[in-house]
Amino acid sequence: MGCMMNKQKGIRILAVGRALPGKSLSNRDLEKMVDTSDDWIYERTGIRNRYRCSIEDVNTLAAAAAKEAIEKSGIDPGEIGVLIVATSSGKYVFPSAAAMVQKELGLSERILCFDLSAACSGFLYAINAARGLLRDSKKPYALVIGSEQLSRLVDYTDRNTCILFGDGAGAVLFRLSEKEFYHVSFTEGNKEALYIGGIGSDIRYLQMNGREVFRFAVKAMERVIEELLMQSGKRLEEIDHVICHQANARIIQSVSRKHPGLEPRFYMNIERYGNTSAASIPIVLSELEEVGRLQGTTCLMTGFGAGLSYGGILAEL
Ligand code: ACO
Repeated sequence: MGCMMNKQKGIRILAVGRALPGKSLSNRDLEKMVDTSDDWIYERTGIRNRYRCSIEDVNTLAAAAAKEAIEKSGIDPGEIGVLIVATSSGKYVFPSAAAMVQKELGLSERILCFDLSAACSGFLYAINAARGLLRDSKKPYALVIGSEQLSRLVDYTDRNTCILFGDGAGAVLFRLSEKEFYHVSFTEGNKEALYIGGIGSDIRYLQMNGREVFRFAVKAMERVIEELLMQSGKRLEEIDHVICHQANARIIQSVSRKHPGLEPRFYMNIERYGNTSAASIPIVLSELEEVGRLQGTTCLMTGFGAGLSYGGILAEL
């Protein structure tokens, strides 16, 4: 590792891609499946629609999102040295989704390539991990993907959970830079609030204590915002976008209300996608890039999920 690389603590995003399944699942569709209503779901969660895989899966969504990012960036894909897929709903136990993306996109075999499991916190953990690995890599680029098919892990007869989740993927291609970058991460070692059994278990579907997760999420994201602002010496007024994991609009509003006047900086697209777990933050990043509002901005990103895990990144992108 050269000394010059050590100075590069930050990241520069070259391009972002996203992929959604072809079929959507609206609140009206769910009304036909469980005892619920469009009004109840929208009022309690802010969700109207989400996507659900039919022919797609975690691997194909991840590859499609990554392909878009690589094509937009114009880089030589052979120069990607690190590839991480954050997912908890992979098609196979092994091989990893990352290995399948490497094959599908014909990337170099000289690549550090693996999946990372940290539920909805996974994408931000993966960005941070890839950034660390890139500092010791001979190749300049990292590809970090959040890809999920939560619909595989949800019981569509359980109205408490099936209304919340959607499938999708987002991919970010970046290199190191000397821009500002701060991060925090926490884990509480809690299984009760959010849990799915492993191979051979009878608990095949997501078990959740919604109220407990709600309370935890608000506190967790408030803590992350406070710590990142303290670390960076910035005020929230200096942050262009606050990107929270999109789990419930009311969770995000509970956090944003603590910052009167700055609520519009808290990005929200949950209405269209539901909670896509590790894919939610990169899908937001792809939407911001599409309208030219990503590169050159300062973003505070914060995620939380099973574990209970949570964390965040404050970075100039
Ligand atoms: N339609 C109609 N009624 C419903 C539905 C539904 N889909 N779901 C629950 N209800 C009922 C309940 O049965 C309950 O009825 P009761 O009072 O007769 O018992 C009533 O509505 C109120 O239920 P609550 O659980 O109190 O509703 P709440 O306002 O807390 O909203 C929700 C529930 C939306 C799940 C909320 O708690 C939440 O979003 N929590 C966070 C969940 C989350 O973010 N999970 C993902 C974490 S990330 C990861 O790692 C996967």
